[in-house]
Amino acid sequence: MPAAQQPDWPDPVGLRRVVDELRAAPPLVFPSECDRLRSRLAVVARGGGFLLQGGDCAETFDGVSPAQVRAKLRTLAQMALVIGYACAAPVVKVGRIAGQYSKPRSSPTETRDGRTLPSYRGDSVNGPEFGEQARTPDPERLLRMYHSSMATLNVLRAFGGGGRSDLRRVHGWNEEFVSASPSGKHYQRLWEEIGAALGFMRSLGAAPETVGETEFFTSHEALVLEYESALTHGGGRPGEAYDLSGHMVWIGERTRRIDGAHVEFASRIRNPIGIKLSAAAEPDEVLALIDKLDPHREPGRLTLITRMGAQRVRAELPALVEKVTAAGAPVVWVCDPMHGNTFEAANGYKTRRFDDVLDELRGFLEVHRALGTHPGGVHLELTGDDVTECLGGGDDIGPDDLPERYRTACDPRLNRSQALDLAFRLAEMYRGA
Ligand code: PEP
Ligand code: CO
Repeated sequence: MPAAQQPDWPDPVGLRRVVDELRAAPPLVFPSECDRLRSRLAVVARGGGFLLQGGDCAETFDGVSPAQVRAKLRTLAQMALVIGYACAAPVVKVGRIAGQYSKPRSSPTETRDGRTLPSYRGDSVNGPEFGEQARTPDPERLLRMYHSSMATLNVLRAFGGGGRSDLRRVHGWNEEFVSASPSGKHYQRLWEEIGAALGFMRSLGAAPETVGETEFFTSHEALVLEYESALTHGGGRPGEAYDLSGHMVWIGERTRRIDGAHVEFASRIRNPIGIKLSAAAEPDEVLALIDKLDPHREPGRLTLITRMGAQRVRAELPALVEKVTAAGAPVVWVCDPMHGNTFEAANGYKTRRFDDVLDELRGFLEVHRALGTHPGGVHLELTGDDVTECLGGGDDIGPDDLPERYRTACDPRLNRSQALDLAFRLAEMYRGA
């Protein structure tokens, strides 16, 4: 089957050796964990929860430092507390983490000063530096992706357990944002309310330690099929397989054709599956994907991640939601307000406006409220660090500020304070419901 966006590996023997090694390696996650995520997402699909999915556009091998991984998890935990309070519902926390190393590209090659080389496809394939050696796909990198994912998962599992992300502690981190950042002050009241609610819970005898055991899941785009299939194993029951490279995997906008290899692969695994949908997605095409990937209409199996752009979401989303609902598909509806709002600033930096991101989210909510469907979550590109990649937000980052700390390996991410700002805004929007 046609497999789009695959690297042109120059060394098939080396690739085969790496794939064999991966096939024999221990899984990164376990089938029971994937099943648990599916049951959590089933609650969201029925309208009783919220999915917060976020992390880097592209993880990098250099980014696997305990400090950077913890900062991302902290940010997600902080956001989840605020959103969960406002929705009065559980927030399912899924990182774009521990496997998000492979990127689809709009062009297979890149030309600079008359010289043409393969595009950077993520650390799993080649290096970002513009040179012959760095850009040549190297299968050894797939092994490094596996080991980097494992190291990241180790931090994630430790962070989630043992009270390290206890809700009172998370609430304390939010205090730093509320008291110290320009946009944070605006949310003082909401922050105090959350504190009062936590105090009330404690008075009832719900120990914050047990309440605060934070459950994090991992996700990434299932792109490089040699890697994904090498980590796919039987789940115990006959004919059942799981991609054990991550809990949830998604199919990107560029690889979701119905007769393509990525969709075929996803149809054969039991993991929760996401599908990215741009404004160009035809409702009939989406119905065919649902039939292929979720023939039994199982809540929690499929998450539709729409990324239409602030300009188009209000016009394009309603027809899609109506047809999917009429087909009886119990999907989780998620808004990715990043990928439809990317543009190049005058100084050449790829960026996004915080206000466009918010506006697409608002449009997503309006559409679902009008149709009576559940706006089930958000899918964000964010980091726990103080980068300058997206415009606006509390610190009002302008185009001239972008070069200061523009560190992403691919698309521009919300920084920590923009991400928290967005969580509080989202909380206000959901509370207005
Ligand atoms: C991404 O999520 O980084 C991405 C490439 O998204 P999409 O497939 O929606 O363009
Ligand atoms: Co991206």
